[in-house]
Amino acid sequence: MTSVKLPNHMGIIMDGNGRWATSRGLKRLAGHQEGAKTLKKLCLYIFKLGIPYLSVYAFSTENFNRSPDEVDGLMNLFILYFEKEFDFLNNLGIKVVFSGSRQPLSDKVLKTMDYITEKTKNNTEGTFNICLNYGGQTELVDMTKKICNLVLEQGLKIEDINSDLVEKNLYQDLPPLDFVIRTSGEQRISNFMLWQSAYAEYYFPKVYFPDFNEEECALAFLEYQNRNRRFGGITNEKTNN
Ligand code: FPP
Repeated sequence: MTSVKLPNHMGIIMDGNGRWATSRGLKRLAGHQEGAKTLKKLCLYIFKLGIPYLSVYAFSTENFNRSPDEVDGLMNLFILYFEKEFDFLNNLGIKVVFSGSRQPLSDKVLKTMDYITEKTKNNTEGTFNICLNYGGQTELVDMTKKICNLVLEQGLKIEDINSDLVEKNLYQDLPPLDFVIRTSGEQRISNFMLWQSAYAEYYFPKVYFPDFNEEECALAFLEYQNRNRRFGGITNEKTNN
């Protein structure tokens, strides 16, 4: 019998909250609130399936250019979820980590990020990576600075720089992304985990993120089964082999 092959590390670019709301005559923030509820259900579904790593794009560095109302609303939503709504992740044994820059996040947001990180740090059933105030190019710039520092201050030899060392100096030490989903029909990666997604399969469902429920996610996994992953080689191995 063929076993179902699921990704080891999946990523979700949660796009379309704003359009979901405006198409219903609601404020954009209502779309983010609905998106947050969807995310909670998806986390439960994905981690219960046994997928060990999930990364989501919650807030890009560019998202600070949105209206102060929307940015404040999103920050308050993050505080609510990190303080309370994501408690179930700890009960499931999931470790929560963050990728991104701390500046210029407010002390209140940072405090709740540190709270959930600390509370879940010894969990081993899975890892939930939240990209917040994140940009993939900035992650690579920050990694370059860290490695330059190792060369200049710690005597690291240039010839000892390799992809393992790069990975150890990204924001989080995560395995490669196997499968990246971007909702809302947009077909761009928008600076999401550039290094980690080098060989990822992409999937672009038309639905807005608040409507990306468990059934939609199951359809995405069906599609993943049928992709050939070659990693630059000549093997023609389907993901369910
Ligand atoms: C992009 O949709 C979505 C965001 C910028 C925010 C994503 C945040 C959530 C789903 C809230 C919950 C997250 C956590 C971690 C609790 P958009 O607003 O750009 O949609 P649009 O393209 O239709 O305008």
